[in-house]
Amino acid sequence: MSKPEITEDMIFECFAAANMSSDLNQTASSFVDVEEYENAVMYPEFARWATKAGYPELATLFRKVAGEEKLHAIWLRELYSDIGIPECGQDTRRAINALETIRANCDELIAMNPDAVIEKALMVAVRVEEREYIDIYPSFRDQALAKDEHETAAVYQRVIDSEQQHAEWFREALSNYQVSQLQSQAVIH
Ligand SMILES: [Fe+2]
Ligand SMILES: [Fe+2]
Repeated sequence: MSKPEITEDMIFECFAAANMSSDLNQTASSFVDVEEYENAVMYPEFARWATKAGYPELATLFRKVAGEEKLHAIWLRELYSDIGIPECGQDTRRAINALETIRANCDELIAMNPDAVIEKALMVAVRVEEREYIDIYPSFRDQALAKDEHETAAVYQRVIDSEQQHAEWFREALSNYQVSQLQSQAVIH
C-alpha cells in the first residue's frame, strides 16, 4: 500500500499556527501561544526527526531555537502582564492535531528516506521564521508605533531581530545540508 507523500506544504500548514487580531492585546496573547507552541511542539519534533535521521547537529540547532522561542513568549508576556495563561488558539490546536496525524507517517518516511524529511523540515523552519520577521512581527511593531507605544514596539523589534537570526541559521543549515547531499551523490556516482 502506498503512503501519501508528506509535502513541505503539509508540514508548513501543520506548524504555521497563528491567529491575528486587530486588538494588540489579543494579538500578543495569540502569539504567546504560537511561541510556546514552537518551543514545546514544533522545534522539539523537528529535533526528534533530525536525531532519528542521524543529524545530531541539526537536532541541536532545532533545540537551541526552541529555547529562544520560549524567550519570545516571556518577552511578550512581560509586555502584557495581564495575559495570564493564553488560550490555546484554534490554529494551534489544529496544528497539534495535524502533527499527531502525520507523526506515525513521518517516522516511516524517516526510516525510508531521512534526507527528504530533514530537508523539508529545514525549509518549513525557514518559511516559519521568514513569515515572522518579514510580515507578522513588523506589522505588530508598526501598530504599536502608530499608537505611540514605543516600548511595546521595541519589544517587537527585539523579537524581529531574533526571528531574523533564526531564519539565517536555518537558511545556512539548509544550504550546507544541500551542498553535503550533492557531494555525497557525487561520491556515489
Ligand atoms: Fe519566536
Ligand atoms: Fe523563531
